[in-house]
Amino acid sequence: MKSLNDLFERNAAWAEGIKEKDPEFFAQLSKQQAPEYLWIGCSDSRVPANQIVNLRPGEIFVHRNIANVVVPTDLNCLSVVQYAVEVLKVKHIIVCGHYGCGGIKAALDDQDHGLMDGWLQHIKGVRQIHAEKLKDLELDQKHDLLCELNVIEQVKNVCNTTIVQNAWKAGSELFVHGWIYDIQNGILKNLDADNTSNGEKK
Ligand code: CO
Repeated sequence: MKSLNDLFERNAAWAEGIKEKDPEFFAQLSKQQAPEYLWIGCSDSRVPANQIVNLRPGEIFVHRNIANVVVPTDLNCLSVVQYAVEVLKVKHIIVCGHYGCGGIKAALDDQDHGLMDGWLQHIKGVRQIHAEKLKDLELDQKHDLLCELNVIEQVKNVCNTTIVQNAWKAGSELFVHGWIYDIQNGILKNLDADNTSNGEKK
């Protein structure tokens, strides 16, 4: 069996590099985490949360799945949201999609993808809601727009969770944002889908 030694070597070098700059970094961080942000993003290897916003360990709480989907039946995602909001008391929830998303492409191609089709159904639902806007576009444009619309719909889903609704009712300062990342240039864009308490546009 391959032991993937190179990854252990990379890890040792990485930890050493951090300790050189800040000898107490890991010791301090091991006592508690206090991230201000929850990132809900795509599992795509090209869209790593910490690196994109250049944050260190301890600064961003992360949930990732195919195509950054938030559905009320997903206990995994909702547990992350609950822990982030109620225990860590994050101030910002960021739903971040990306152009060139394989999950979005798969939801547009109407082919059989096996088990994953159950998951893609959530994105196909977004496609249906916005069928009118999408219908006359070239495939590339359709794909880009669905990547954006999917983020906006997932922001709504986050806002509609009882977790976020209850936090807002309790007067918590909690913002929900919709962003998209361009894998061609590494740049993030705000989709202007920000929400604050009571779902008001900010
Ligand atoms: Co993706």
